[in-house]
Amino acid sequence: MIEQEKIEEIKRQTDIVDVIGKYVQLKKMGRNFRGLCPFHAEKNPSFYVNPEKNIYYCFGCKKGGNAINFLMEYEKLDFPDAIKRLAKSLGIEIDTTKGLRHKELYEANEFACQFFAQCLDREIGRRGQEYLARRNIRPADIKDFRLGYAPSSGGLVTFMRQKGMPVERLQQAGLVSANRELFRDRLMFPIFNLSGRIVGFGGRSIDDHMQPKYLNSPETPIFRKGEVLYGLYQSKERIRAKGEVILVEGYFDLLSIYQHGFDNICAPLGTSLTEQQAVLLSRFARKAMILFDGDLSGMRAALRAIGLLIDAQVDVYVAVLPENADPDSFINEQGAQALHDLLAQASDFFHFYRNAVKVDTVAQEITLIKDLIQIIGRIRDPIRYDRYLKYAAHVFEIPVETIQNEISVVSAKSEAPARAVQKPKISQEERMMAMILNGYEYFPLVREVLQPDDFSEESINRLYKKLLKEDDFDIADLSEAVDEGLREKLLSAIMRDEPVSQDSISQAIRTYKGRVQEKRLMERRNAAIKRGDEAARKEFDRELAALKRQLLNINVEKAVDSEP
Ligand code: GTP
Ligand code: MN
Repeated sequence: MIEQEKIEEIKRQTDIVDVIGKYVQLKKMGRNFRGLCPFHAEKNPSFYVNPEKNIYYCFGCKKGGNAINFLMEYEKLDFPDAIKRLAKSLGIEIDTTKGLRHKELYEANEFACQFFAQCLDREIGRRGQEYLARRNIRPADIKDFRLGYAPSSGGLVTFMRQKGMPVERLQQAGLVSANRELFRDRLMFPIFNLSGRIVGFGGRSIDDHMQPKYLNSPETPIFRKGEVLYGLYQSKERIRAKGEVILVEGYFDLLSIYQHGFDNICAPLGTSLTEQQAVLLSRFARKAMILFDGDLSGMRAALRAIGLLIDAQVDVYVAVLPENADPDSFINEQGAQALHDLLAQASDFFHFYRNAVKVDTVAQEITLIKDLIQIIGRIRDPIRYDRYLKYAAHVFEIPVETIQNEISVVSAKSEAPARAVQKPKISQEERMMAMILNGYEYFPLVREVLQPDDFSEESINRLYKKLLKEDDFDIADLSEAVDEGLREKLLSAIMRDEPVSQDSISQAIRTYKGRVQEKRLMERRNAAIKRGDEAARKEFDRELAALKRQLLNINVEKAVDSEP
């Protein structure tokens, strides 16, 4: 674990606007900074960063937290890695090899990778070597991918035992199931996350009769197929440098053309591209070149990927391979130059879409036009949007205004519900709690006045007790203390509210306390009436009147205070 003191030091020195500003263009808006949310597609900025409170919050998708949360979410880092990243940019030294979440799972995969690689190197891996040679893959050129071979006789469990790793670990990592090693007689492709840790494997059967052709590790806490891209770890720096990524469908496609210098490349893991993967890619590339198989399913996959990539604000081009080819077979048959030429001739998504979709009837043409217009409507870059708009108008011979109308109808429909939920209803107790968190530096003052009993809502009550118990509560810890809905409400209130001063908070807690007391007195007064105790009722009435005066005084104080 990283020492708590180090973490505090890093938190203190971190400037959240600096950190987020590296990823999001932020504009100053009063006390806050505002920009387009990097976590969901939007046209109008609803992502706010507040430097005084050191938090960010998106009113659209409700993501929020401190600089550490941001890095975790955006860079897909775990907590220690996010801390490490911040420490590095601040020039603070720390030891971070410890404290990694799911460390055992990463370790199991790492050892397994070493075992498979060793096998591929040795006599036992001859079948693997021969298979690679048959498929023209030169292991020396793709060392970073750490390919391996899983022998038909197994051996992983024994190897792990020597390393002191129990079988349960292998089960948790999905490498062993029902006491059987999952991968046998397969060529092994380790799958890396963005930090370079192995999260799972893909295995290609060598014997063509063995089903399935490809077998992936099952999903584990560190491996979600829809959130990883094969090859991204190895290619990400070049993708970033070129601003462009080549997307292929398969492991072999990727390696086969990577070794010819097409090294800004990645692939989904055998499923169609997901929204998360598109967003992930958008962090590295402005432009995607889709290079899917030349068959019908490759075509369909490309059509689906276009929308997701456009939503993630990536410009999309599609290179179309001959009917029966995939990138691997194409480069083997026609060479690297032919592939270069093919990529150079890739069409923008508009042309591809228009040519790919078969149109025989007017109705089909209308559907095509509407689909394309809908995609164009999601482009945020004003120049690209304008170009495609005019282009569509020209091609379909439809006035630009008509297309614009269609776009605003569509986007009004899809954005309306998001706006409706923007301002959640907030109770008095929640509002008080938001203020307490907002002015956390005045908590010593608050704890003098408010008791846990003063909060009757269970979750607020629990949170308040936690605040009383802990010395240094961080807004980032909210996700552990309360449920998602309450966390969103509190964060959003904190982001909207004015900064808290000592006066405003002492005034607020006294008012709040007064209201609670008033409510209690009322209850007791009503009970007195019920049992016909006239003397008690009179006493409660007096107390109530005194309380009212006191509350009134607080407000008079406030009115006087705020006079210039
Ligand atoms: P090769 O035949 O080895 O060249 O593979 P390919 O990449 O040409 O195969 P294909 O186009 O059929 O599949 C593309 C990708 O889909 C593969 O790289 C795998 O990730 C995935 N895939 C293919 N077949 C299977 C399968 O049977 N099971 C699973 N889970 N994934 C598969
Ligand atoms: Mn293939």
